[in-house]
Amino acid sequence: MNIDFYERIWMWAAGGIIAVFIAVIGLSTVAYGLHPPSHIETIEPSKVFTDPRFSKLGAPVVMPDGTVEVQMVAIMFAFAPNEVRVPAGRPIRFRLTSADVTHGFMIARTNANTMLVPGYISQFTTVFPRAGDYLVVCHEFCGNGHHVMSARVIVEESK
Ligand code: CUA
Repeated sequence: MNIDFYERIWMWAAGGIIAVFIAVIGLSTVAYGLHPPSHIETIEPSKVFTDPRFSKLGAPVVMPDGTVEVQMVAIMFAFAPNEVRVPAGRPIRFRLTSADVTHGFMIARTNANTMLVPGYISQFTTVFPRAGDYLVVCHEFCGNGHHVMSARVIVEESK
């Protein structure tokens, strides 16, 4: 029958499209690897707290070019440190990693948003134009305490 014939065509077409999508995801995973959406810099998750690259937790470092570097570690179910003070109007480079499972890092009311994948360092630079109190939330489900996992970025008027 005619209707049956067209239904079969569309059924196979839909199935074929799904197969192509799955193949594209699978191949790109193998070809490009899975890593955080910044750069590829690896770290041993169990040694994060003794790694020199994270030796300045809680004390933002002013780099020679004026950029302020903030180091933070995510661990079930908190950020270390859970409060950081940075100046407004200056580039702030966040260097972040996880000491256990995959976490998220999103600064509410900004476009600062990244995944924290164990084994990798996530990095991005942003500028806070205005002083204020910003909430940081974990937006990757990481376990029973996921919903309480938060921190604060306090942006102060530049001196
Ligand atoms: Cu950490 Cu959700």
